[in-house]
Amino acid sequence: MTVYNFDEIIDRTGHHSAKWGAVADNCLPMWVADMDFRSPPSAIAAMVARAQHGVFGYTLDPPKLKEVVVERMSRLYNWEIRPEDILFTPGMVLALCATCSGFGEPGDSVLIQTPVYGSFFKAVRANRKFTANINMAYVADDAQTFHYENDYDEFEMVARDPQTSIYLQCNPQNPAGFLYSQTELERIAEICLRHNILIVADEIHSDLILEGAHIPIATLSDEIAQNTLTMIAPSKTYNLAGMACSVLIAQNREIRETTAAALQSISAHVNIMGYEAAYGAYSGGEEWLRQLLVYLKDNRDYAIAFIRKHLPQIKTTIPQSTYLLWMDMRELPIEGDIVDFFKDRAGVAPSPGEFFGDAGAGFVRLNFGCPRTILEKGLHRLKAAVDQLVTTV
Ligand SMILES: Cc1ncc(COP(=O)(O)O)c(C=O)c1O
Repeated sequence: MTVYNFDEIIDRTGHHSAKWGAVADNCLPMWVADMDFRSPPSAIAAMVARAQHGVFGYTLDPPKLKEVVVERMSRLYNWEIRPEDILFTPGMVLALCATCSGFGEPGDSVLIQTPVYGSFFKAVRANRKFTANINMAYVADDAQTFHYENDYDEFEMVARDPQTSIYLQCNPQNPAGFLYSQTELERIAEICLRHNILIVADEIHSDLILEGAHIPIATLSDEIAQNTLTMIAPSKTYNLAGMACSVLIAQNREIRETTAAALQSISAHVNIMGYEAAYGAYSGGEEWLRQLLVYLKDNRDYAIAFIRKHLPQIKTTIPQSTYLLWMDMRELPIEGDIVDFFKDRAGVAPSPGEFFGDAGAGFVRLNFGCPRTILEKGLHRLKAAVDQLVTTV
C-alpha cells in the first residue's frame, strides 16, 4: 500500500497560489480553503494522460464521470441517482450564482443560517435577491469549546414569508465544521416543503469527514429529493479547487432544467482538465483520501489540544468535518482588526470572521490543511503574540 506523505513541505510560492500570494513573505497563509498537499496520483495521472493526447478542442460532459458519481453516491449513502440527474459546473460559487439567478423572482429572499461561507451572501446579492439571515444560537460546551444550534422558530418565521423562495444550506458547515444531524435535516426540510422553498444544499465538504456521518439532505425522502438541488465537488476533498469542476445533482426534472438553463445563459463550461482531474480523483483517490482524513484529524486534535493548553482565552468549535477551525477571539484584548493582529504580530493569516456574516465578528477561521510542522509553527507564533498581548495589557 502506498503511504502518502502529507508532512512534505511543497513550495507553492511562484505558482500564483491565491493562498500564498496574498500574504507577505514569512507570513503563514492559513486562510482560504485549499490545502498545501499534492493531489492524489490518480488525479495527476489522468490530467497528464489527457495532456499527452495533445488535442484540446471543445468537450462534452464525460459519461465516465457521471458513472463514477452515480456509483459513489450509491456506495457512500445508498443514494440511487441516475446519470441524467447530474450537471457539471466550473466551480461551486458559479453554481450558487446560477441558482440564485435561475430560481425565484428578483427581490425574493434567500434564507441563510449564519455564520456561513461568505460567498453565499455574494451569490444572492449579485443576483438581485436579498439574504434573510438567521443567526444560529451560540452554545458553550465548556470554557473553551462551543457549538451552534438551529433557531427553528426564526427559520419558520422567515420561511413563512412568501418572498422567501430558496434556502441555501452549507452541510458540512463552513466555518463551524459541524454536520447537520438527521433530526435537524428532517425538521428543516419539512419547513421548506411546507412553504414551497427550494433547498440548495452545498455539500462541497462532504467527503472530509473527521468523525460522524454526513447525510445528504436529498436522501431523507423522495419528496425532499424532489425539492433539492445538491452540490458536491472533488475540489476540497482532493485539493483541486484550481481545476474548477463541480457536480450538481437534481432528481427533479424541473429543478434540473431550470438549473441547466441558468448555466447555459452564462455559457458555463468545465475545462477538459477539470473533468479529467475529477474523474481521476473520484475513481482512484480513495486510499489517498482515507490517509488524508487520518492526517487532518490528527491536525485538528493537535490544534485543539494546543489551544486548550496554551491559549485559554480562545474558544473553538470541534469540527467534525473540513480542515477549518472556527475560533472565537472575543475574550482577547485585541485593539483594532483581529486579522491584522494575526498577520502583524504573529505572522499568521487566518480568514476574517466577518467574511462569514455579522455573526462572525470577533472570530477568525484557521485552515489546518497543511503539513503538521506548519500548523505547529503557526500556533506557536500565535501563542507568542497572545502572551505578549496579555502581559502588556
Ligand atoms: C461551502 C463552500 N462552498 C463553495 C466553496 C467554493 O467553491 P468553488 O471554489 O468551487 O467555487 C467553498 C470554498 O471554500 C465552500 O467552503
